[in-house]
Amino acid sequence: MTMFITFEGIDLAGKSTQVQLLSEYLMKKGYRVVTLREPGGTEVSEKIRSILLEPENQLNPFSELFLFEAARSEIVSKVIKPLLQQGTLVICDRFWDSTIAYQGYGRQLPIDFIEKCNYYASEGLEPDLTFFLDISLDAMFQRMEVKSADRFESENRDFLSRVMDGFRELAKRYNYRTYIINGADSIENIHKQIVEIIENKLSEKDGETT
Ligand code: ADP
Ligand code: TYD
Repeated sequence: MTMFITFEGIDLAGKSTQVQLLSEYLMKKGYRVVTLREPGGTEVSEKIRSILLEPENQLNPFSELFLFEAARSEIVSKVIKPLLQQGTLVICDRFWDSTIAYQGYGRQLPIDFIEKCNYYASEGLEPDLTFFLDISLDAMFQRMEVKSADRFESENRDFLSRVMDGFRELAKRYNYRTYIINGADSIENIHKQIVEIIENKLSEKDGETT
């Protein structure tokens, strides 16, 4: 069984909480599961992550884009593709939708160019299933501890509002793989909805292979 699942949404939407719960659920069911996050997942990608998130680093928007794509190219070629080839379920906290939302809608770089970069950096690998956790900016600020804010979390409200609009647009554009989940719901309810969707997908996949 192989499936590439991604979680998307603005910071603090609840992605890592749900990634963790889903991975525990699937492991209990006996699936081989690996969870990853972007940017990150290899030694080099984690180094790139530190450069990207360090609040002191003032990066030109194109440098920022290319660093995210460099981190992606590493994790896809060295980790994600080999895992999928071995039949492991891969769950990734953020993937290429985040680049379009943040660098495209947020920084206002050309979206068609970012799509090309995403395509080449991920060797054409697109998620089978994406959960978009949708929360309002107010809910995000309520969840935020200002002390721990990284470079993106400390961006201004206009930037974050463009990013959020971007995710909502992408959920429409990629509706064949994206499920929109109300991130303001309780952790348990969100998990239940995700499990239901996953169970349906897994039985579809089982049907394909039998
Ligand atoms: P992300 O990975 O999207 O940044 P996290 O999963 O780290 O988000 O969650 C951010 C914060 O919000 C954490 O303190 C977490 O406990 C809390 N949280 C996560 N999901 C919910 C939810 N559904 N309702 C309320 N708080 C939540
Ligand atoms: P992270 O702490 O992983 O996200 P979260 O706060 O949601 O747990 O931080 C990653 C940051 O990088 C996040 O603010 C979104 C941003 N980002 C981009 O701007 N472009 C991208 O392509 C990716 C993958 C992330």
